[in-house]
Amino acid sequence: MSVKTLSDQSIEATLAELAKATERGRRVIAVVNQKGGVGKTTTAINLATALAAVKKSVLIIDLDPQGNASTGLGVEMRDRKRSSYEVLMGDVALREAILATSIPGLHIVPSTIDLSGAELELVPMERRNFRLRDAFFDADQAIKSYDYVLIDCPPSLNLLTLNALTAAKSVLVPLQCEFFALEGLSLLLKTIERVRANFNPDLDIFGIVLTMFDRRNNLSDQVAADVRSYLGDKVYDTVIPRNVRVSEAPSHGKPALLYDYKCAGSQAYIKLATEVLRRERRPAA
Ligand SMILES: Nc1ncnc2c1ncn2[C@@H]1O[C@H](COP(=O)(O)OP(=O)(O)O)[C@@H](O)[C@H]1O
Ligand SMILES: [Mg+2]
Repeated sequence: MSVKTLSDQSIEATLAELAKATERGRRVIAVVNQKGGVGKTTTAINLATALAAVKKSVLIIDLDPQGNASTGLGVEMRDRKRSSYEVLMGDVALREAILATSIPGLHIVPSTIDLSGAELELVPMERRNFRLRDAFFDADQAIKSYDYVLIDCPPSLNLLTLNALTAAKSVLVPLQCEFFALEGLSLLLKTIERVRANFNPDLDIFGIVLTMFDRRNNLSDQVAADVRSYLGDKVYDTVIPRNVRVSEAPSHGKPALLYDYKCAGSQAYIKLATEVLRRERRPAA
């Protein structure tokens, strides 16, 4: 779209959007993959915990109606009176929906099943693609006080995910090493490109993390090699192995890192956090 085709009013609106984009925190990261069960929530929870363990302040925004991030961090249902749903609807300010978790330095905006109706409810609303971004903007100081904000997205490229992609600075993609992984990934990359072109020019790919890697499965190796040749150094060196302790942790309301610090899965998430921090110190290519 050329600037000349825009009316003055919409140029102003566009500039205002861009200003908001540059004022937003640098490390607002949407954890996205339209496939369910690939490790988005597990990655959000355990990466956040590992970062909090090294004294980073982290906010998780649970944007999935299933509320797995909230449950996995031990947030009781009765404590979810103010959730991401009310924030998107504009009924409560983002900072009023933030809860402390049992992990020092890690906070969460929980979700409830109410969010499953939000998609339809958002359709007729003003600025339906930007509800979360607007909430961030209103909560400017609160958001800036976090070193990292991780948005745990639902398993779909729906309006909720779009709200995450317009609010975020970058995208973290957990990718399970399985046969159709690359097809799903190319659809996701196209979607990110479209969001960048239309709504959020700053959006970039924070990284791709290979999850639930099974060393006994030759396909895992093949998929990992294909993803690396396709996306190069956007793919983290750290690979998260399939590990039963990781899958047990959520039912105890704890991140794997607290449930069993020594298990291979927890150790991999610590390594991933180290890699995330190390890459941030590296000057942009
Ligand atoms: N590295 C892993 N090893 C074993 N199980 C895992 C691992 N990562 C995630 N899981 C389990 O797989 C399921 C899906 O993971 P989850 O993080 O909820 O995916 P998503 O958020 O993408 O739907 C959950 O039951 C989770 O406990
Ligand atoms: Mg999830």
